Amino acid sequence: MRLTVFNGSPRGEGSNTKILLEHFINGFMTTEGNIYELAYLSRVKESDNFVKLFREAEHVLLAFPLYTDCMPAIVKTFIESLEPLCGKKGNPDIGFIVQSGFPEAIHSRYVERYLEKLAARLGCRYKGTVIKGGVEGIQAKPARMTRKLFESFYQLGKTFGETGKFDEQIVRKLAKPEKLSRFDLWILKLLDKVGLANSYWNTMLKGNNAFEKRFDKPYII
Ligand SMILES: Cc1cc2nc3c(=O)[nH]c(=O)nc-3n(C[C@H](O)[C@H](O)[C@H](O)COP(=O)(O)O)c2cc1C
Repeated sequence: MRLTVFNGSPRGEGSNTKILLEHFINGFMTTEGNIYELAYLSRVKESDNFVKLFREAEHVLLAFPLYTDCMPAIVKTFIESLEPLCGKKGNPDIGFIVQSGFPEAIHSRYVERYLEKLAARLGCRYKGTVIKGGVEGIQAKPARMTRKLFESFYQLGKTFGETGKFDEQIVRKLAKPEKLSRFDLWILKLLDKVGLANSYWNTMLKGNNAFEKRFDKPYII
């Protein structure tokens, strides 16, 4: 099987998407004869090549982080660049991976509906959307905390490489929790009260010199 993979994270080679894809591809490549090609949508200067890659692809996997309940601008730009291929004969099969910061899969269900519709409009056979929440922070976590997640993506890639489909059981497992339980919410409120709920995000803001600006409302007159 020939798989063309698009990494839609603006973080490119430093992205969480890259890490998850690496495990997926390692699994995919265990089937003899499988080959893949990988493109980073963050390399915007190569955008003409993205359309060519898509047009010539057999199976496409588009993976991206959830941005403001939808997709990053580079992914939307890529999707719009495919407009001339809408409904063309010979378009590839397409599957998606959407991973997000919030742990609940429900945040990604709207973009999932969009992606299914997109596949239909392009005239691509839709292979499904893999949703995984709670991904931000994986690069800071010790190996024992990410082992299961990476193994799941490896297995997902392996079965995809063998069957050309996402394994339904793995997809269902990855999408947990759909929504946080009352108990989880209670814990979250508690962490918020003691100032721990935002500590990771505050560190990120400080690292980007944006902490002081966190309540800015630049569009309010
Ligand atoms: C501008 C921006 C918007 C985001 N919006 C959301 C969001 O709406 N929901 C969510 O769960 N995570 C959101 N996130 C978190 C990312 O989805 C998450 O950090 C992801 O793992 C980043 O993956 P990457 O390293 O591959 O880019 C957002 C992150 C950024 C930078």
